[in-house]
Amino acid sequence: MEQKKFYITTPIYYPSSNLHIGHTYCTVMADAMARFKRLTGYDVMFLTGTDEHGQKIQKIAQEHGVSPKEYVDEIVGGIKELWKTMEISYDDFIRTTEERHVKRVQAMFKQMYENGDIYKGVYKGRYCTPCEAFWTETQAVDGKCPDCGRPVEYAEEEANFFRLSKYQDRLIDLFENNPEFLQPESRRNEMLSFARQGLEDLCISRSSFDWGIPVPIDEGHVIYVWLDALSNYVTALGYPDDPEKYDKYWPADVHLVGKEIVRFHTIIWPAMLMSLSLPLPKKVLGHGWILLEGGKMSKSRGNIVDPVKLIERYGVDALKYFLLREYTFGHDGVFTNEVMLNRMNSDLANDLGNLVSRTVTMIQKYNDGIVPPAGKEEGPDKELKEMVLGAAAKVEREMDKFSFSTALEEIWTVIRRTNKYIDETTPWLLAKDEANKERLNTVLHNLAESIRVVSVLIYPFMHTTSTKIRKQLGLWYADPEWKDTQVFDLMDGEKVKKGDAIFPRMDIEKELSELEEMNEENKPKKEYPPIKDIIQFEDFDKIDLRVGEVVACEKHPNADKLLVFQIKMGDETRQIVSGVADSYKPEETIGQKVIVVANLAPRKFRGKLSSGMLLFADNGDRYEFVTTKAPHGEIVS
Ligand code: MSP
Repeated sequence: MEQKKFYITTPIYYPSSNLHIGHTYCTVMADAMARFKRLTGYDVMFLTGTDEHGQKIQKIAQEHGVSPKEYVDEIVGGIKELWKTMEISYDDFIRTTEERHVKRVQAMFKQMYENGDIYKGVYKGRYCTPCEAFWTETQAVDGKCPDCGRPVEYAEEEANFFRLSKYQDRLIDLFENNPEFLQPESRRNEMLSFARQGLEDLCISRSSFDWGIPVPIDEGHVIYVWLDALSNYVTALGYPDDPEKYDKYWPADVHLVGKEIVRFHTIIWPAMLMSLSLPLPKKVLGHGWILLEGGKMSKSRGNIVDPVKLIERYGVDALKYFLLREYTFGHDGVFTNEVMLNRMNSDLANDLGNLVSRTVTMIQKYNDGIVPPAGKEEGPDKELKEMVLGAAAKVEREMDKFSFSTALEEIWTVIRRTNKYIDETTPWLLAKDEANKERLNTVLHNLAESIRVVSVLIYPFMHTTSTKIRKQLGLWYADPEWKDTQVFDLMDGEKVKKGDAIFPRMDIEKELSELEEMNEENKPKKEYPPIKDIIQFEDFDKIDLRVGEVVACEKHPNADKLLVFQIKMGDETRQIVSGVADSYKPEETIGQKVIVVANLAPRKFRGKLSSGMLLFADNGDRYEFVTTKAPHGEIVS
């Protein structure tokens, strides 16, 4: 029988700076899934890599005074090192600067052109460099990117366009009739309404900078970085010139991506594939973000959590376990040191660590380290055995849904039940009387079997720990096999050997203060942008600033980042739209007395009229109202 195949990908990361714990989240999930599929009999292809072209990288390299290639080479080296430290089992790592990728992207571009889907025009609109995304005047909010809230630049340049509009109906059909394609449901609804609003043709080449793959049909242009990047999922398989792997693995079983890049993966990427007459990926899964208390992780705030530091202190498996267990797929979650340490202490040191060390110690003490055969079944034996043998099916069911957290919870239910079994059967009391020897043997046997099954179940998530446990059980010579989760008598006669505690217990207070100290040392000094060029008083005087009071505020119905304010200024109440939904809940803003730019030309943001602008202090991550105690309507001068 031909082996079932499974192709899984992570996004390819921008090598603009070192990766933080948020980035590792997706790769850790992909790794666990890849290992799980391998263990359950699949031929797996797990792809990751780096997205190295584009304006953002060119700019940052310039700031560092090196060439883009020199810049990315160094960061990519660090990323590969990180994945090695994290024991990520990828099968291929693609860099978009590699020759194999460049020539294949050019071939794909040419093919789309020959299919009549690419034409020449002039791009006029906004561009968000950090997101490498084009926005129309109406999509950009207060001159800010609707995805990340950072300022967008005006761009006007000759460009090639892709007929995205042509695929609008097929994309709507895809979201409507193939609910498996994009999950979670909330993202599917979002993309469906985005597509229904109308898809404009997409600008797919840039001519104002040159760090990219040259457009094969148009000198002086480079291919839009998202077109370049998305193609990696097939170029790494050899498409189109070396199709052996492509034929074997495409379509991908799943693209794992963060929620903010779902749009690129479920609108642009499928449309490209439709243009090339290639099958679509079976599934795109959008995961949530790992946030810090008070917002996103960012370099400017110096609050990045460095995975290498955590691994040095707690080990790879503890970190992986924490990421997979703590956060629910598809939802955002908050990272704090305290949550992490509590999780590690309770689940790893207490539950798993204790179970292994208690069991191995007892087998050594009461039976010379040899696992005895089981005798008559009694008391809680049957329940324990059934639970242990039933766990693999539950884990499979949860992994099919990418519910890593619930899969681990199922395993920990077994671990906790086994710990309880020790308390119920009290082997230390049984050991006091030779008459109980058979019962004692049965208990020790059941404990050893239960831990052995656990060592297989946890293997995809924490293989090093699994191996450590198996060594202590005397199973150092045998690789874990999934089918072994279905038997309960493999251990008779094995000799166990106690080793170091697999997860030593931590003093949380002490750890917290040491982590806090480390964090302070890492904080970069805040850098402010230089003051803008001098203007004359007459220029400033054209601006009419007034005090306004927020009397009502609601979320914009069609844009996550926008709030729609009703601002009272004297006798007048006007509507103003601002891109500050990440910083304020609507109800928090009521009653604030704020500064309004009262004579700014009105414009619409996604259908809502905005007459004026509110002033905010912007620390790069959060907006803070500029407030006053003066009554509404007063002039600010
Ligand atoms: N280069 C593009 C992806 C191209 S894929 C064809 C890109 N790169 S990125 O480096 O900015 O982000 C890569 C992934 O990291 C995204 O899926 C993003 O959601 C994820 N994360 C970045 N910060 C994150 C958190 N704080 N939490 C969880 N994931 C986060 O976008």
